[in-house]
Amino acid sequence: MIVYLDGRYLDRDEACISPDDRGFVLGDGVYEVIRFYGGRPFALAEHLDRLARSIGEIRIEGVDAAALGSVARRLVEENGLGDAVVYIQVTRGAAERVHRFPGGGARPTVWGSAAPFDGYREERKHGAAVVTLPDIRWGRCDIKTTSLLPNVLASEEATRRGAIEAILVRDGVVTEGASSTLCAVDGNRLLTHPEGPRILSSVTRSIVLRLCGELGVEVVEKAVAAGSLAGMDEALLLSTTKEILPVVQVDGLPVSGGVPGPVTRRLQEAFTALTRGGGN
Ligand code: PDD
Repeated sequence: MIVYLDGRYLDRDEACISPDDRGFVLGDGVYEVIRFYGGRPFALAEHLDRLARSIGEIRIEGVDAAALGSVARRLVEENGLGDAVVYIQVTRGAAERVHRFPGGGARPTVWGSAAPFDGYREERKHGAAVVTLPDIRWGRCDIKTTSLLPNVLASEEATRRGAIEAILVRDGVVTEGASSTLCAVDGNRLLTHPEGPRILSSVTRSIVLRLCGELGVEVVEKAVAAGSLAGMDEALLLSTTKEILPVVQVDGLPVSGGVPGPVTRRLQEAFTALTRGGGN
């Protein structure tokens, strides 16, 4: 595979990142995940805007996120991919180990890689189980940082319990999944946690909220109480890789009678028309 590292395209086996890189030593970096369908990027501008924001929020200087769109395209092209996922990581670079920002000379590390991706097909069709776990993350979940340890631990616990995702709970309400957004359906209303520091501003979420408008589904940006999640009419996970994935079980209890519900199905259909139809 051809990867991108600091301005160069090279064979993955030749790519070298310093052991002093602050991404490795301190988790001092941000990232982005971009989906390609049939060789075409989906919602590229939205992902690059969010990357620019993440870079700005952690005050990494000298990286033009907008310019990384052509890097993502070239990675998919050079690797001959169609349905794919591109990961971009930006760290504060290699420097002496201090917690504060390093002195002059440290340059950010910019990494990009692409891989074939066509995952979660069965789960999107039949739905999947989730478990609720405490949200032990920091106070800036709106920044898409590579410091993902709480997400990693929650995700591992969910896997051990046979679930596809950990649904995180803070102060009695659902915030989001360990690597996805959670929405619930109550009648003809779609409920989702409001934007802010407790969740990632999901690109898929913003597209789904727009589709709700088009389909006549009312959107209520209000967190769902953890205790009422299993009793909602429907629940769904959203992300770049999961797309719209029905939740049919929460903590062992069936949701929506254990089968994907009608609002989820309509949203899936409309979303697929965007991704496979070439629009966004
Ligand atoms: N995860 N919330 C969290 C904590 C996430 O990590 C993600 C995405 C989302 C959904 O965001 P989007 O719709 O923009 O993908 C919400 C990606 C896919 C990942 O880490 O692999």
